[in-house]
Order: sequence, then C-alpha cells, then structure tokens
Amino acid sequence: MGITMVSTIAGLKELGASLLTGKAGGGTLGLVPTMGALHPGHAELARTAVAQNDVVVASVFVNPLQFGDPVDLARYPRTTDADLALLDAAGVAIMFAPPVEEMYPGGEPSVRITAGRLGELYEGASRPGHFDGALTVVAKLLHAARPDGGLAQAGAGRQPYRAYFGQKDAQQLALVRRMVADLNFPVDIVGVPIVRDREGLALSSRNRFLSPGQRDGALVLSRALRLLRRRADAHEPLDIPSAEELVHMTPGVELDYLEVVDPETLAVRAENCQDTPFTGRALALIAAQVGPVRLIDNVTLG
Ligand code: PAJ
Repeated sequence: MGITMVSTIAGLKELGASLLTGKAGGGTLGLVPTMGALHPGHAELARTAVAQNDVVVASVFVNPLQFGDPVDLARYPRTTDADLALLDAAGVAIMFAPPVEEMYPGGEPSVRITAGRLGELYEGASRPGHFDGALTVVAKLLHAARPDGGLAQAGAGRQPYRAYFGQKDAQQLALVRRMVADLNFPVDIVGVPIVRDREGLALSSRNRFLSPGQRDGALVLSRALRLLRRRADAHEPLDIPSAEELVHMTPGVELDYLEVVDPETLAVRAENCQDTPFTGRALALIAAQVGPVRLIDNVTLG
C-alpha cells in the first residue's frame, strides 16, 4: 500500500487508527517529524522507523515558531511532491502535512514549552526562542500522532509509540529527550546517526543554498571534528584551539563555536583535555556561518 497524505489532525488520527487495526497488541507507531525539503538524512530516519514499527507517520511542517529570522522562514525550501515520493519509497504510510492554521488555529500559541537553560546555550545563544518553538511543535506533533486507540487491546501498559530524531541536531535531540522525561510524554525517543555526503559534509536542507566554493569551505567543519576524533581515539590531548585554527584559516567560514561537551547534559566538560590525554566519552559540537547558511555538525568522542 502506498503513502497517503493528510492535512488535518482529525484525519491523521482516523487513518492512523485504521492502519493499526488488527495489528498484534494494538500495533506500534513511529513518528518522524520533519520540515520537509527531504534528503537522504531524513530518508534514513524514515527507513529506521519503518523497520521498527507497524505504521510510520512522517510530518512535514515548516514551523514558523522556531524561526527567528523571517527571511530564513520565507526562503525555507518547500518540495512537497518530492517529499511525498521519498517517504513513499522509504515505506512510510502517512505523510502529515498540515497548513499553519491547522497547527496554530488561534495564531501563535500563548502557552509554550520552554527549553530551559540548555535551550539558551550553543544554537540557542544565536537563535533566541528557537528551541522553545521547536519543542512546542514537537509536543503538538507527538500528541497529534499518538496511537491511543490501541490502549484497550494492549491491556497492561501503554501502546508502543516511538519518535525518531537525527543526531545531527544533537542539542534538539537532547532537549526532546529532556522534555519527554520531564513532562512524562508516553513515547520512546530514538536517535539516528548523522548521514553525510561522500566528502563528509553532514546533509542538511539548507546545503542547497551553498555555492560550490562555499560547499568546499563547509567541509572544514567535519574535518575539524575528525581531527578531534582521531586524537580522542589515540588518547592524546584534544588541543581544541588547533581544530579551531583549522576553521579560522578557511576563507568564507566564520566559526561560531567548537565545544567538547557531556553527551547527555551537553554541559561543557570541565576537563577539556588541552594538555591532558582524552578519556571517557564526549560530544564535539561545531557551528559556523558559511555564506548565507548557518551549519552545525557534531561527532562522538571516545
Ligand atoms: P528538519 O531540519 O527537517 O529535520 C528533521 C529531522 O531530520 C531531525 O530530527 C534532524 O536531526 C534529522 N536530520 C536532518 N539532517 C540529518 C542528517 N544529515 N542525518 C541524520 N538526521 C538528520 O529538525 C527539524 O526539522 C525540526 O526542528 C523539527 C524537529 C521537525 C520540529 O519542527
């Protein structure tokens, strides 16, 4: 059976329930939230969800609440037909593509999720309110796609419900995990590894705005991260300033931050391994402005 596109929450609930009918134990549902302009990174999320669930819903919604810059919102690529084809090929059953009025019928919601302190660091520092907006729409999407019709059949416990997020947006993933834990959302969050192109550039919907020269420059982000990873693997001092220098030397690339942080809390490691050998586990986060685009990437150390 091919994919079906729905644009209302009521339609999503009805179709989701009907596709789950008759599945053992009420069936399992996977949700893949996206903003469209889908690429192979999104496809990987979708295929992972399809492999693990009876029914998969992918949402495509460019969420105005998480854009600080109206220009960025207006130019965000919208490629509905191609998105539908990509999701269909991945085995997704439902593409939920609501108009803005369906998600925010009264205009901007006055009550929102606040991301707290972690939402003000790194990406949050240069994009105030971004994570409040992202978490608010993720909360709404988790409610909209939630398979509650199967609870009775499942008997004890809740019906299996999973949502899929890319490790590419490490801070977003950490915040979604916190929201789900702190506010008791009945869903399991699954993190999916970063998909890169052949030369190591992390795939992003915004990469299409890079000129060929800027794209070459952008490769320095993953190169700097690989340098740190090699040193971590060799238990050498990380020497973060030398990795920063690599970025500073690249014309057209303006480094915002390069931080080595705790993989769960994203707190900067007190021991930054400048002169001492690297031990333990950490995440190296990088962000830079490259021409018209802000790029982020990260890699696990240890
Ligand atoms: P979007 O940028 O469309 O990304 C949707 C999902 O795809 C996110 O979980 C993101 O981490 C993942 N993703 C993007 N590029 C990836 C790559 N190269 N490898 C692996 N996963 C990748 O993130 C958002 O949308 C929004 O903030 C959203 C969660 C949908 C809320 O509006």
